[in-house]
Amino acid sequence: MKVIYPGSFDPVTKGHIDIIKRAQKIFGEVIVAVLVNNSKNSLFTIEERVELLQDALKDIENIEVDTFSGLLINYTESKGCNRIIRGLRAISDYEVELQMALANRSLNGNVETVFLASSPEFNFLSSSIVKEIASFGGDVSDLVSSSVNEALKEKYKNIK
Ligand code: PNS
Repeated sequence: MKVIYPGSFDPVTKGHIDIIKRAQKIFGEVIVAVLVNNSKNSLFTIEERVELLQDALKDIENIEVDTFSGLLINYTESKGCNRIIRGLRAISDYEVELQMALANRSLNGNVETVFLASSPEFNFLSSSIVKEIASFGGDVSDLVSSSVNEALKEKYKNIK
């Protein structure tokens, strides 16, 4: 079965990779869909985010990295998928994720959102936390792939 794992991935973290690997094991094929978010203040361009994802996922089978804009449910339908994967960390995620899942279900009742609990070691991890630490010169090498680590150093090299 083909499933969609959507997100901003600004940038991809080891928490995302963990969810993608586990979803691939369960469902067989994962489309990682990067939101083209013009309104959001992204650190990485859409091209950079896709490239960093492709690099981090290059050794995993049956993964496609794609982009989408507009409604996720329309994109999901256009790919012939009826499962959306989301990772759940703390309780605070739950409220936002439940709202999003129910909004998507109200738009198309055939599309189910499936939640995977984050692995404990990544329970605190988010792209925002990674950017915050990296922006102050902190070490994020355990939290992201080596390419993302290098890309973050490059982005923040003049800010200290
Ligand atoms: O990684 P993120 O930022 O938590 O991902 C959020 C994402 C991309 C899944 C969500 O913002 C999204 O689906 N945006 C597309 C617009 C949409 O479909 N909104 C209606 C559902 S709430």
